[in-house]
Amino acid sequence: MKAGLESLGIAVPPTYVELAELAKARGVAPGKYVDGLGVTRMAVPLVEEDTVTLAARAARMALDAAGATGEDVGMLVVGTETAVDHSKPVSSYVQGLLGVSTRCRVFETKHACYGGTAALQMALDWVRSGSAKGKKALIICSDIARYGVGTPGEPTQGGGAVALLVSDTPKLLAFEAGKSGVYAKDVMDFWRPLYSKDAVVDGHYSVQCYLDALEGAYKAYQEAAGDAGEGGLYSDRFAALVYHVPYGKMSRKAHRHVRALDGDKEPDASFDRLVGPSLVLPSQVGNIYTGSMYLALASLLSTSREDLTGKRIGLFSYGSGSCAEFFSGVVQPEAQARVKALGLETLLERRRALSIPEYEAIMAAREKLDEKPAEDTAGEGFRYQGTRDHKRIYTR
Ligand code: HMG
Repeated sequence: MKAGLESLGIAVPPTYVELAELAKARGVAPGKYVDGLGVTRMAVPLVEEDTVTLAARAARMALDAAGATGEDVGMLVVGTETAVDHSKPVSSYVQGLLGVSTRCRVFETKHACYGGTAALQMALDWVRSGSAKGKKALIICSDIARYGVGTPGEPTQGGGAVALLVSDTPKLLAFEAGKSGVYAKDVMDFWRPLYSKDAVVDGHYSVQCYLDALEGAYKAYQEAAGDAGEGGLYSDRFAALVYHVPYGKMSRKAHRHVRALDGDKEPDASFDRLVGPSLVLPSQVGNIYTGSMYLALASLLSTSREDLTGKRIGLFSYGSGSCAEFFSGVVQPEAQARVKALGLETLLERRRALSIPEYEAIMAAREKLDEKPAEDTAGEGFRYQGTRDHKRIYTR
């Protein structure tokens, strides 16, 4: 049975910071952030946005794109490392906001940026086993990346969500069953202690951990696929490679590593062709943790000039800590037209630039977010209003 993405949806905050401006404010050469890290703009969620509202907005877009409703969903999982509660999952709030059926498995998954991929793989197995019985799985990757003002990680922040509607009628990407390689290792490269809203990171070590995991997962994929001895550079079997993208330069380092493993003497030469289109949207948003690789996939389908129909895409998901997976899928007819029709580039163009003082004020206000008493306001869209009787209150 086929299983894959029937549709997808994206939510990004309406506001961003120009990294060249941030660099000036931090006394750093703008080239370091823009060229050195490969990020132009960094999404900054407003105070009334959180993991729940971003997830609900992305899910709404994915359901609408497929002409589906909450009644069609039999599994609703949110992969996140920006949970809003130790017990109640983000997915339950989303279920309430979207009116998803009560006949549904609803839960949250966590493993840093890999949490969404863990949920996706579970959903694919659920569909392939026949247990879904025609229902769809709604997998949402939603996060707000925070390292803190003035830290080396600051220019690699971001925020947003990607929703993936998974079913037995994939209209975007059909994943290849059994073609997957995993790699997991207990490392302290990046973590977010329970007492902190900001992540703690050993930045340069995290880059090495990412590359080690990529190598392990890529080799495991080749063993699983069983076709490594068939000649040519292995990664040329993919029409595109989509890497987890904490910042654009990391994808370049990843690709260099893969091509060097393949024995390519010019590992950078294929970068624009195989990776370039996947970085157009991420370079305007920054790291959105669980959703980063899926935003890169949306970017590829939305901006590639090549007809990818029937072609194989390789995907690499990395979660610090660590767990990683290299897997693949085949692009379905009209997938590119469907994703283009979502108008993702226009969505990003419509955002408003924040001044650095405005951005810093939002970061400070976010610290106090959960202490804010909920106001009784009505309004458009999903908004987090604060808490009342220890309950988070949202407008619908
Ligand atoms: P840093 O140490 O301040 O930067 O922070 P740097 O000195 O390494 O410079 C960065 C790049 O800019 C270098 O290029 C410089 O040469 C270049 P590279 O050598 O890497 O090719 N550069 C310039 N280029 C042009 N013009 C200039 C200039 N100056 C310097 N004037 C670091 C960088 C990534 C460490 C930091 O931002 C950080 O800690 N970020 C967060 C951690 C991270 O993103 N790690 C990625 C791998 S782990 C991962 O992906 C998982 C994650 O998503 C979390 C999860 O799983 O949940 C993070």
